[in-house]
Amino acid sequence: MADVQIIREKLGVHPDFPKKGIVFLDIFPVLRDPILTELMISHFITHIGTVTLPKSKQSKIDVVVGLDARGFILGPLVASRLGAAFVPVRKKGKLPGETIQAEYMKEYGTDIFEMQANSISEGANVIIIDDLIATGGSARAAGQLVKQLGGNTLEYLFVIGLTFLKAMDTLDAPAYCMIESE
Ligand code: ADE
Repeated sequence: MADVQIIREKLGVHPDFPKKGIVFLDIFPVLRDPILTELMISHFITHIGTVTLPKSKQSKIDVVVGLDARGFILGPLVASRLGAAFVPVRKKGKLPGETIQAEYMKEYGTDIFEMQANSISEGANVIIIDDLIATGGSARAAGQLVKQLGGNTLEYLFVIGLTFLKAMDTLDAPAYCMIESE
């Protein structure tokens, strides 16, 4: 689709960042442009209305869960369009009140994600959003947290999928990547 091509061309591409061998794909140049931001969010909204909800046979999304950190930018934009709640999944130690935790693997070592314990109601329809899926460790941890709170994850949404890493098959719900990258 033309909108996807325009967004793809605007992504920042940074070889060897943050370390040698990684080609970092940056969505901030897209967010600097309000028209492209609108295009990107509208693309997700159209996808949710035409694919996510019909396929899952659900009539609405109750909660958009965004992952630390760029999911905190995309998530509320999508949630407000859907009339849904926005709920963050944050790195350990940042969220006040009672939280639940899930550990996940990063390239080096592990990290811990948290959600506020009362942030999702039993049976709520959830989508989980982030800018990029690589090995999928953070998305899987977020999915576990949503499940633990009784949420029903309908789909995972990403702007960029490093699809050669095959992480999408390891999630507990379908995944949609607007842009696939090698
Ligand atoms: N996170 C993990 N891999 C990444 C990449 N190649 N670009 C941007 N964010 C990432």
